[in-house]
Amino acid sequence: MTDPAFWRGKKVFLTGHTGFKGAWASLLLRRLGADVYGYALAPTHQSSLFVTARIADDIRHRIADIRDLSTLRAAMAEAAPDIVIHMAAQALVRPSYEEPVETFATNVMGTVHVLEAARQLRSLQAMLIVTTDKCYENNGTGEAFRESDRLGGDDPYSNSKACAELVTHSYRRSFFNVPSAARVATARAGNVFGGGDWARDRLVPDAMQAFLEGQALRIRNPNSVRPWQHALDPVLGYLKLVERLASDERLAGGWNFGPDAASEVPVGTVVEQLIALWGDGARWTADDGPHPHEAAFLRLDCARARTWLNWTPRLRLSQGLALTVDWYKALQRGQDLRRVSLEQLERVLQDTVPNGAAQ
Ligand SMILES: NC(=O)c1ccc[n+]([C@@H]2O[C@H](COP(=O)([O-])OP(=O)(O)OC[C@H]3O[C@@H](n4cnc5c(N)ncnc54)[C@H](O)[C@@H]3O)[C@@H](O)[C@H]2O)c1
Repeated sequence: MTDPAFWRGKKVFLTGHTGFKGAWASLLLRRLGADVYGYALAPTHQSSLFVTARIADDIRHRIADIRDLSTLRAAMAEAAPDIVIHMAAQALVRPSYEEPVETFATNVMGTVHVLEAARQLRSLQAMLIVTTDKCYENNGTGEAFRESDRLGGDDPYSNSKACAELVTHSYRRSFFNVPSAARVATARAGNVFGGGDWARDRLVPDAMQAFLEGQALRIRNPNSVRPWQHALDPVLGYLKLVERLASDERLAGGWNFGPDAASEVPVGTVVEQLIALWGDGARWTADDGPHPHEAAFLRLDCARARTWLNWTPRLRLSQGLALTVDWYKALQRGQDLRRVSLEQLERVLQDTVPNGAAQ
């Protein structure tokens, strides 16, 4: 469980707060009493969590680019945060093939800029750089990755995140290496889902979009196995890590945050559950391609987070999917999505999420 006493009154500089995970992180941080200073580009969808949950009403934030070092440095210096959480990224594989230069600029040099701006801060206690489970070299063996495994990544997105890991390692060793310096960690999580995500080419948002429009969901690789989890699970893990990192330098380094083994299932299994939960004639069809290469297996070994942080995921796959379908159904019914999102957050924190089986 996260410790509200740690977060109350803490100043948290959060990049990517207008994005899917960043918006859930903002809601959670505010719920824990932290002061959030967001820094990101403008939201790209009018029904994003950031817009519908009215996150901007509750935090201080700036719409700006992490590729602009001087603006970022000024924003961070003005906030004088205790904690930096860096989530801003070009976060998708397929657009990374279309725009590799922009992807590397944002994910690699953007991370350099965040680290560079942060190392000037006297107030800083801990810093978390969010990368991905795709940062590992994946030979398709199906073995679960450990934090010590080799970094790699074929497509520009995955590779840029491996580069962000290396950049963070260099900054940690070169500039955050004295006892008085802030501790720096990286977090590698898997495919997350939840209310308010509209990213193209992500399974759950694609499904919700198709079902809302009464269309069949088109699926590329029904047999690909992924570690699926609700966004709040890794976000809770990130906060737990930061809490401990602030006072324990042994925790600096890389951390996996994945679901339990029962949630490492093929795309097709997730789709069948979503269809059952949605009802209303929801259906899927095969999308024959051509498609860019994607790894067939991706699994994470999360023993480190379990052992050192006592972190385990709170939601089973069926519970996370049910919360997600409820969110998009609430959107369809025109309900107040700030209220719905806060209720979902509270249920996760109180462990009162229903089982999740389709009605
Ligand atoms: N969603 C997933 O399944 C998943 C899985 C593993 C890792 N991640 C990582 O988690 C983080 C958050 O992902 P998400 O799903 O919320 O992505 P998202 O696309 O919803 O949000 C990305 C955020 O980054 C910001 N951003 C992008 N380019 C920027 C720039 N040049 N300057 C400033 N801000 C910029 C956007 O404005 C947005 O706030 C990313 O680092 C992503 O790589 C996500």
